[in-house]
Amino acid sequence: MKNIVILISGGGSNMAAIVKTAKRDGWHDKLGARVAAVISNKATAQGLVFAQEHGIATEVLDHKTFASREAFDAALSQAIDCFDEPGQPALVVLAGFMRILSPGFVARYAGRLLNIHPSLLPAFPGLHTHQRAIDAGCRLAGATVHQVTAELDHGPILAQAAVPVLPGDTHDTLAARVLTQEHLIYAQAIAQLLQK
Ligand code: GAR
Repeated sequence: MKNIVILISGGGSNMAAIVKTAKRDGWHDKLGARVAAVISNKATAQGLVFAQEHGIATEVLDHKTFASREAFDAALSQAIDCFDEPGQPALVVLAGFMRILSPGFVARYAGRLLNIHPSLLPAFPGLHTHQRAIDAGCRLAGATVHQVTAELDHGPILAQAAVPVLPGDTHDTLAARVLTQEHLIYAQAIAQLLQK
């Protein structure tokens, strides 16, 4: 069984979409994969409730209680690696996980560490992507699923979805339109990767 470990910091709607798609599409039987755990760096992350209600193991690792980024990442690695199975290392899925990861962490999970970013990369890496797209006068915005590499919000692109930026859009209206697409493309990209 291939275990998927999802890292969140907040609402967890992408995580919930992945869990629902995995169930609907029978990933367990068809792809030999399951969402095994959800780990949050915030105890208040709403997504933890959804995960618990769906019988998924949850863990909170509060980054503020660690002396350094490296110490936090080491503890995170330990928690993730519990879900490796013989010959089947876990797939690590960042879903609104708002932490910069150390180079050592990224190297350890090379090729099996995915992220979703709310812009059409390589445009608008970093924060405030929707407002920046509006301010730049973009006619299209969107989201990108990519492999994580050492450079923030870079790495091979696995999937993208574009949505229009409409007159009068605010950060919130655009974010909601993009999020709907995120929920589709993240699960699709994971399923494609699991089929390889
Ligand atoms: C999503 O829009 C995701 O793309 C973004 O945070 C939101 C999390 O929502 N991620 C980043 O900005 C990472 N740089 P969710 O918790 O409801 O899935």
